[in-house]
Amino acid sequence: MKVIITQEYHETCIKAAEIILQTISEKQNAVLGLATGGTAIGVYEVLAREYRSGKVDFSEVSTINLDEYIGIDPTNPQSYRCYMDNLFFNKVNIKKENTYVPSGNCPEKEIEKFTEILLKKKLDLQLLGVGVNGHIGFNEPNEKLHADVHIVKLDEATIESNARFFKSKEEVPKTAITMGVGDILKAKEIVLVATGAKKANVISKLLLDDEVTTQIPCTLLKLHPNVTVVIDKALANMAGIR
Ligand code: F6R
Repeated sequence: MKVIITQEYHETCIKAAEIILQTISEKQNAVLGLATGGTAIGVYEVLAREYRSGKVDFSEVSTINLDEYIGIDPTNPQSYRCYMDNLFFNKVNIKKENTYVPSGNCPEKEIEKFTEILLKKKLDLQLLGVGVNGHIGFNEPNEKLHADVHIVKLDEATIESNARFFKSKEEVPKTAITMGVGDILKAKEIVLVATGAKKANVISKLLLDDEVTTQIPCTLLKLHPNVTVVIDKALANMAGIR
């Protein structure tokens, strides 16, 4: 696993964006797996800036998002579709029809659609954040994990952590649709970005030993041959990484 330690969060976003831009420069019609959440926002800002300065063309790029809350309509401002449109897609020349963000409606139908899309389009690169409990996508710590797209009950830690994006904790949906860990591990390349003290424990479990456990889903990334973890030095220090 490659680890890049940056001076601060903004540099983390630049480094992650550089890896994404490299993928697109090698393959104009790259398929990108994308994440939402707070950490990814800065990566999208850098990508949009690079687009404005003419350094990248997204016209042939396709994207597939990791997950969505069940019960949140794509038109709801809290939806990951709105997040992606507002923070990234509307700021670059990507074709909307080439972007897929799972819908939080009709879960059973959406599982089928999501699965079909992942069969048709192979991920060249997957951008990941990581939850305070080590989740990737919404693959929450458990005795067993799912390889494929599925509906998941969100962990209490995730609900608490994501309450900051809602008016109250009670408003955070309790279930989500997510790519499975198998889908994520099928990506040719994976870039994980993380920042903040709350991620120190899971980052140290990811980087400081060779244990793989479904109780800390990000540790499964140790099984993938091409993962880059980008973290700032404050997080690296807290995680005990020198
Ligand atoms: C979001 C996602 C999640 C987030 C993770 C980190 O699509 O799949 O795994 O990446 O919860 O979120 P932040 O960056 O808000 O801490």
